[in-house]
Amino acid sequence: MRKPTVQALLAGAALALLTGLAHAEVVIKFSHVVADSTPKGQGALMFKKLAEERLAGKVKVEVYPNSQLFGDGKEMEALLLGDVQLIAPSLSKFDRYTKQIQVFDLPFLFNDIDAVHRFHTSPSGKSILNSLTKKGLTGLAYWDNGMKQLSAKKPLKMPADAKGLKFRIQASDILEAQFKAVGGVPQKLAFAEVYQALETGVVDGAENPWSNAYSQKFFEVQPYFTESNHGYLGYMVVTNAKFWSGLPADVRTELEKILAEVTVEVNKSSTALNEGDRQKIKDSGKTEILPFTAEQRAAWLAAMKPVYDKFTGDIGKDIVEAAKASNKP
Ligand code: LMR
Repeated sequence: MRKPTVQALLAGAALALLTGLAHAEVVIKFSHVVADSTPKGQGALMFKKLAEERLAGKVKVEVYPNSQLFGDGKEMEALLLGDVQLIAPSLSKFDRYTKQIQVFDLPFLFNDIDAVHRFHTSPSGKSILNSLTKKGLTGLAYWDNGMKQLSAKKPLKMPADAKGLKFRIQASDILEAQFKAVGGVPQKLAFAEVYQALETGVVDGAENPWSNAYSQKFFEVQPYFTESNHGYLGYMVVTNAKFWSGLPADVRTELEKILAEVTVEVNKSSTALNEGDRQKIKDSGKTEILPFTAEQRAAWLAAMKPVYDKFTGDIGKDIVEAAKASNKP
Protein backbone atom coordinates (compact mmCIF):
# COMPACT_ATOMS: atom_id res chain seq x y z
CA MET A 1 0.00 0.00 0.00
CA ARG A 2 1.31 3.46 -0.90
CA LYS A 3 2.02 5.79 2.01
CA PRO A 4 -0.33 8.84 2.09
CA THR A 5 1.36 12.13 1.23
CA VAL A 6 1.72 14.92 3.79
CA GLN A 7 -0.77 17.02 1.81
CA ALA A 8 -3.33 14.23 1.89
CA LEU A 9 -2.88 13.83 5.63
CA LEU A 10 -3.26 17.56 6.18
CA ALA A 11 -6.35 17.72 3.97
CA GLY A 12 -7.84 14.80 5.88
CA ALA A 13 -7.13 16.46 9.22
CA ALA A 14 -8.66 19.75 8.04
CA LEU A 15 -11.76 17.95 6.83
CA ALA A 16 -12.10 16.09 10.14
CA LEU A 17 -11.75 19.37 12.01
CA LEU A 18 -14.32 21.11 9.84
CA THR A 19 -16.76 18.24 10.17
CA GLY A 20 -16.22 18.23 13.91
CA LEU A 21 -16.90 21.96 14.11
CA ALA A 22 -19.95 21.67 11.92
CA HIS A 23 -21.28 18.94 14.16
CA ALA A 24 -20.51 20.90 17.29
CA GLU A 25 -22.67 23.85 16.24
CA VAL A 26 -26.13 23.50 17.69
CA VAL A 27 -28.86 25.22 15.71
CA ILE A 28 -31.75 26.49 17.81
CA LYS A 29 -34.83 27.49 15.90
CA PHE A 30 -36.95 29.85 18.02
CA SER A 31 -40.42 30.19 16.55
CA HIS A 32 -43.14 32.54 17.78
CA VAL A 33 -46.29 34.27 16.59
CA VAL A 34 -45.83 37.96 17.45
CA ALA A 35 -43.85 40.90 16.03
CA ASP A 36 -40.14 41.56 16.76
CA SER A 37 -41.11 44.82 18.50
CA THR A 38 -43.12 43.15 21.31
CA PRO A 39 -41.72 41.91 24.65
CA LYS A 40 -41.52 38.31 23.36
CA GLY A 41 -40.05 39.39 20.02
CA GLN A 42 -37.42 41.49 21.78
CA GLY A 43 -36.62 38.67 24.20
CA ALA A 44 -36.09 36.17 21.38
CA LEU A 45 -33.71 38.58 19.59
CA MET A 46 -31.77 39.30 22.78
CA PHE A 47 -31.43 35.56 23.42
CA LYS A 48 -30.04 35.11 19.88
CA LYS A 49 -27.55 37.95 20.31
CA LEU A 50 -26.19 36.80 23.66
CA ALA A 51 -26.09 33.11 22.73
CA GLU A 52 -24.22 33.76 19.48
CA GLU A 53 -21.80 36.14 21.22
CA ARG A 54 -21.01 33.95 24.19
CA LEU A 55 -21.22 30.59 22.46
CA ALA A 56 -19.77 31.62 19.11
CA GLY A 57 -19.16 28.59 16.91
CA LYS A 58 -21.13 26.39 19.27
CA VAL A 59 -24.65 27.77 19.00
CA LYS A 60 -26.59 29.45 16.23
CA VAL A 61 -30.07 30.81 16.92
CA GLU A 62 -32.61 31.38 14.17
CA VAL A 63 -35.61 33.47 15.21
CA TYR A 64 -38.85 33.11 13.23
CA PRO A 65 -41.44 35.74 14.34
CA ASN A 66 -45.02 36.41 13.19
CA SER A 67 -46.10 32.76 12.75
CA GLN A 68 -43.65 32.65 9.80
CA LEU A 69 -42.59 29.09 10.50
CA PHE A 70 -45.34 27.72 12.74
CA GLY A 71 -48.49 29.37 14.05
CA ASP A 72 -50.68 28.60 17.04
CA GLY A 73 -51.74 25.01 17.19
CA LYS A 74 -48.70 23.82 15.24
CA GLU A 75 -45.75 25.14 17.24
CA MET A 76 -46.13 22.78 20.19
CA GLU A 77 -46.31 19.79 17.87
CA ALA A 78 -43.27 21.10 15.96
CA LEU A 79 -41.36 21.35 19.25
CA LEU A 80 -42.22 17.79 20.23
CA LEU A 81 -41.20 16.56 16.76
CA GLY A 82 -37.89 18.43 16.95
CA ASP A 83 -38.68 20.79 14.04
CA VAL A 84 -38.04 23.77 16.36
CA GLN A 85 -36.12 23.89 19.62
CA LEU A 86 -37.59 26.88 21.45
CA ILE A 87 -41.06 28.38 21.53
CA ALA A 88 -42.82 30.72 23.95
CA PRO A 89 -46.58 30.27 23.61
CA SER A 90 -48.87 32.32 25.77
CA LEU A 91 -49.78 30.56 29.02
CA SER A 92 -53.37 30.28 27.78
CA LYS A 93 -52.26 27.88 25.06
CA PHE A 94 -50.96 25.18 27.41
CA ASP A 95 -54.25 24.09 28.89
CA ARG A 96 -54.18 20.73 27.10
CA TYR A 97 -50.83 20.03 28.78
CA THR A 98 -51.43 21.11 32.36
CA LYS A 99 -54.56 22.24 34.15
CA GLN A 100 -52.67 24.20 36.80
CA ILE A 101 -51.40 26.68 34.23
CA GLN A 102 -54.97 27.81 33.61
CA VAL A 103 -54.70 29.87 36.78
CA PHE A 104 -53.08 32.65 34.75
CA ASP A 105 -56.28 33.05 32.69
CA LEU A 106 -58.61 33.75 35.63
CA PRO A 107 -60.06 37.24 35.13
CA PHE A 108 -59.08 40.00 37.59
CA LEU A 109 -56.84 37.60 39.52
CA PHE A 110 -53.73 39.76 39.61
CA ASN A 111 -53.96 43.42 40.61
CA ASP A 112 -50.87 44.31 38.64
CA ILE A 113 -47.75 42.95 36.99
CA ASP A 114 -45.75 43.01 40.26
CA ALA A 115 -48.23 40.54 41.72
CA VAL A 116 -47.71 38.31 38.68
CA HIS A 117 -43.95 38.41 39.21
CA ARG A 118 -44.36 37.42 42.86
CA PHE A 119 -46.44 34.45 41.73
CA HIS A 120 -43.89 33.43 39.03
CA THR A 121 -41.21 33.03 41.68
CA SER A 122 -43.45 31.44 44.35
CA PRO A 123 -43.33 27.66 44.96
CA SER A 124 -46.62 27.29 43.02
CA GLY A 125 -45.29 29.30 40.09
CA LYS A 126 -42.15 27.20 39.99
CA SER A 127 -44.10 23.96 40.22
CA ILE A 128 -46.17 24.96 37.17
CA LEU A 129 -42.96 25.63 35.25
CA ASN A 130 -41.83 22.10 36.07
CA SER A 131 -45.18 20.46 35.44
CA LEU A 132 -44.63 19.82 31.73
CA THR A 133 -41.76 17.35 32.07
CA LYS A 134 -44.10 14.37 31.85
CA LYS A 135 -45.21 15.64 28.45
CA GLY A 136 -41.66 15.79 27.10
CA LEU A 137 -41.37 19.54 27.56
CA THR A 138 -39.03 21.58 29.74
CA GLY A 139 -40.36 24.93 30.95
CA LEU A 140 -37.44 27.37 31.09
CA ALA A 141 -38.86 30.77 32.00
CA TYR A 142 -41.89 33.02 32.30
CA TRP A 143 -41.87 36.08 30.09
CA ASP A 144 -44.42 38.88 30.33
CA ASN A 145 -46.31 40.52 27.65
CA GLY A 146 -48.60 42.53 29.91
CA MET A 147 -52.14 43.11 31.10
CA LYS A 148 -54.93 42.58 28.58
CA GLN A 149 -57.31 45.29 27.40
CA LEU A 150 -60.78 44.76 25.98
CA SER A 151 -61.56 46.05 22.51
CA ALA A 152 -64.72 46.01 20.40
CA LYS A 153 -66.69 47.65 17.64
CA LYS A 154 -68.79 49.37 20.35
CA PRO A 155 -67.89 50.87 23.73
CA LEU A 156 -67.56 48.28 26.50
CA LYS A 157 -68.33 49.94 29.80
CA MET A 158 -70.52 47.59 31.80
CA PRO A 159 -70.75 43.80 31.37
CA ALA A 160 -74.13 44.11 29.61
CA ASP A 161 -72.38 45.93 26.74
CA ALA A 162 -70.70 42.64 25.78
CA LYS A 163 -73.98 40.81 25.34
CA GLY A 164 -74.28 39.12 21.95
CA LEU A 165 -70.86 40.31 20.74
CA LYS A 166 -68.50 37.77 19.18
CA PHE A 167 -65.09 37.82 20.85
CA ARG A 168 -61.91 36.28 19.50
CA ILE A 169 -60.19 34.25 22.18
CA GLN A 170 -57.06 32.16 22.46
CA ALA A 171 -57.53 28.39 22.72
CA SER A 172 -58.41 28.42 26.44
CA ASP A 173 -61.53 27.09 28.13
CA ILE A 174 -61.26 29.71 30.87
CA LEU A 175 -61.26 32.55 28.36
CA GLU A 176 -64.25 30.92 26.72
CA ALA A 177 -66.10 30.85 30.06
CA GLN A 178 -65.01 34.42 30.80
CA PHE A 179 -66.79 35.87 27.76
CA LYS A 180 -69.79 33.58 28.10
CA ALA A 181 -70.20 34.91 31.64
CA VAL A 182 -70.96 38.37 30.24
CA GLY A 183 -73.22 37.09 27.46
CA GLY A 184 -70.55 37.25 24.76
CA VAL A 185 -69.99 34.65 22.06
CA PRO A 186 -66.34 33.55 22.24
CA GLN A 187 -64.56 32.11 19.25
CA LYS A 188 -61.16 30.39 19.40
CA LEU A 189 -58.94 31.69 16.61
CA ALA A 190 -55.22 31.54 15.88
CA PHE A 191 -53.37 34.80 16.49
CA ALA A 192 -52.40 35.16 12.83
CA GLU A 193 -56.09 35.26 11.86
CA VAL A 194 -57.23 37.93 14.31
CA TYR A 195 -56.72 41.10 12.27
CA GLN A 196 -58.71 39.78 9.34
CA ALA A 197 -61.44 38.38 11.58
CA LEU A 198 -61.85 41.80 13.20
CA GLU A 199 -61.72 43.62 9.90
CA THR A 200 -64.30 41.47 8.18
CA GLY A 201 -66.63 41.24 11.18
CA VAL A 202 -66.14 37.50 11.75
CA VAL A 203 -65.68 38.67 15.34
CA ASP A 204 -66.63 41.97 16.97
CA GLY A 205 -64.12 42.21 19.78
CA ALA A 206 -60.98 40.82 21.34
CA GLU A 207 -58.56 41.12 24.25
CA ASN A 208 -54.80 41.64 24.13
CA PRO A 209 -52.10 43.84 25.65
CA TRP A 210 -51.25 47.13 23.93
CA SER A 211 -48.09 45.76 22.31
CA ASN A 212 -50.04 43.17 20.34
CA ALA A 213 -52.87 45.61 19.55
CA TYR A 214 -50.33 48.07 18.17
CA SER A 215 -47.98 45.74 16.27
CA GLN A 216 -50.84 43.80 14.68
CA LYS A 217 -52.78 47.02 13.94
CA PHE A 218 -55.90 45.82 15.77
CA PHE A 219 -56.51 49.46 16.75
CA GLU A 220 -57.25 50.24 13.11
CA VAL A 221 -60.20 47.84 13.10
CA GLN A 222 -61.44 48.26 16.68
CA PRO A 223 -62.98 51.70 17.29
CA TYR A 224 -63.03 51.24 21.11
CA PHE A 225 -60.58 49.97 23.67
CA THR A 226 -61.39 49.72 27.36
CA GLU A 227 -58.42 50.07 29.66
CA SER A 228 -59.58 47.08 31.67
CA ASN A 229 -56.30 45.39 32.66
CA HIS A 230 -58.61 42.45 33.35
CA GLY A 231 -56.16 39.62 32.84
CA TYR A 232 -52.54 38.73 32.34
CA LEU A 233 -50.93 37.67 29.08
CA GLY A 234 -47.58 36.02 29.58
CA TYR A 235 -45.53 33.24 28.08
CA MET A 236 -43.66 30.14 29.01
CA VAL A 237 -40.39 29.71 27.18
CA VAL A 238 -40.34 26.01 26.55
CA THR A 239 -38.05 23.47 24.92
CA ASN A 240 -38.05 19.80 24.03
CA ALA A 241 -36.88 17.96 27.17
CA LYS A 242 -34.79 15.41 25.22
CA PHE A 243 -33.10 18.09 23.12
CA TRP A 244 -32.27 20.19 26.18
CA SER A 245 -30.87 17.33 28.25
CA GLY A 246 -28.87 16.14 25.22
CA LEU A 247 -26.97 19.44 24.92
CA PRO A 248 -23.33 19.47 26.08
CA ALA A 249 -23.48 20.44 29.77
CA ASP A 250 -21.39 23.61 29.33
CA VAL A 251 -23.61 24.83 26.48
CA ARG A 252 -26.80 24.10 28.41
CA THR A 253 -25.54 25.87 31.52
CA GLU A 254 -24.56 28.96 29.55
CA LEU A 255 -27.87 29.01 27.68
CA GLU A 256 -29.76 28.81 30.97
CA LYS A 257 -27.71 31.69 32.32
CA ILE A 258 -28.46 33.74 29.21
CA LEU A 259 -32.17 32.92 29.46
CA ALA A 260 -32.21 34.08 33.08
CA GLU A 261 -30.66 37.39 32.03
CA VAL A 262 -33.08 37.81 29.15
CA THR A 263 -36.02 37.02 31.44
CA VAL A 264 -35.03 39.79 33.85
CA GLU A 265 -34.75 42.23 30.96
CA VAL A 266 -38.03 41.25 29.26
CA ASN A 267 -39.98 41.41 32.51
CA LYS A 268 -38.38 44.70 33.50
CA SER A 269 -39.15 46.45 30.22
CA SER A 270 -42.53 44.97 29.23
CA THR A 271 -44.63 47.55 31.10
CA ALA A 272 -42.83 50.52 29.54
CA LEU A 273 -43.03 48.90 26.11
CA ASN A 274 -46.79 48.42 26.47
CA GLU A 275 -47.23 51.97 27.75
CA GLY A 276 -45.35 53.29 24.72
CA ASP A 277 -47.59 51.32 22.38
CA ARG A 278 -50.68 52.53 24.23
CA GLN A 279 -49.55 56.10 23.56
CA LYS A 280 -48.95 55.36 19.86
CA ILE A 281 -52.44 53.88 19.60
CA LYS A 282 -53.89 56.97 21.30
CA ASP A 283 -51.89 59.32 19.06
CA SER A 284 -53.11 57.51 15.94
CA GLY A 285 -56.59 58.96 16.56
CA LYS A 286 -58.04 55.81 15.01
CA THR A 287 -59.65 54.48 18.16
CA GLU A 288 -60.94 55.69 21.48
CA ILE A 289 -59.41 54.49 24.74
CA LEU A 290 -62.06 54.34 27.44
CA PRO A 291 -61.17 54.45 31.13
CA PHE A 292 -62.26 51.68 33.51
CA THR A 293 -63.59 52.92 36.83
CA ALA A 294 -63.52 51.01 40.12
CA GLU A 295 -67.29 50.62 39.83
CA GLN A 296 -67.01 49.11 36.35
CA ARG A 297 -64.24 46.79 37.50
CA ALA A 298 -66.40 45.53 40.37
CA ALA A 299 -69.32 44.89 37.99
CA TRP A 300 -67.19 42.90 35.49
CA LEU A 301 -65.54 40.96 38.29
CA ALA A 302 -68.92 40.04 39.79
CA ALA A 303 -70.23 38.95 36.40
CA MET A 304 -67.16 36.77 35.81
CA LYS A 305 -67.11 35.23 39.29
CA PRO A 306 -68.72 31.94 38.06
CA VAL A 307 -65.51 31.28 36.10
CA TYR A 308 -63.69 30.84 39.43
CA ASP A 309 -66.37 28.47 40.71
CA LYS A 310 -66.15 26.37 37.56
CA PHE A 311 -62.37 26.04 37.24
CA THR A 312 -60.84 26.28 40.72
CA GLY A 313 -61.28 22.53 41.27
CA ASP A 314 -59.37 21.65 38.08
CA ILE A 315 -56.59 24.14 38.69
CA GLY A 316 -56.22 23.34 42.40
CA LYS A 317 -57.51 25.51 45.23
CA ASP A 318 -54.00 25.88 46.66
CA ILE A 319 -52.69 27.31 43.39
CA VAL A 320 -55.57 29.79 43.06
CA GLU A 321 -55.09 30.88 46.68
CA ALA A 322 -51.33 31.28 46.18
CA ALA A 323 -51.98 33.43 43.12
CA LYS A 324 -54.45 35.61 45.06
CA ALA A 325 -51.96 35.91 47.92
CA SER A 326 -49.35 37.28 45.52
CA ASN A 327 -51.38 40.52 45.35
CA LYS A 328 -50.00 41.35 48.81
CA PRO A 329 -46.40 42.52 48.61
C1 LMR B 1 -52.76 35.73 21.29
O1 LMR B 1 -52.96 34.70 20.64
O2 LMR B 1 -53.60 36.62 21.40
C2 LMR B 1 -51.44 35.89 21.98
O3 LMR B 1 -51.18 34.76 22.71
C3 LMR B 1 -50.33 36.07 21.01
C4 LMR B 1 -49.00 36.17 21.73
O4 LMR B 1 -48.21 35.24 21.62
O5 LMR B 1 -48.81 37.21 22.38
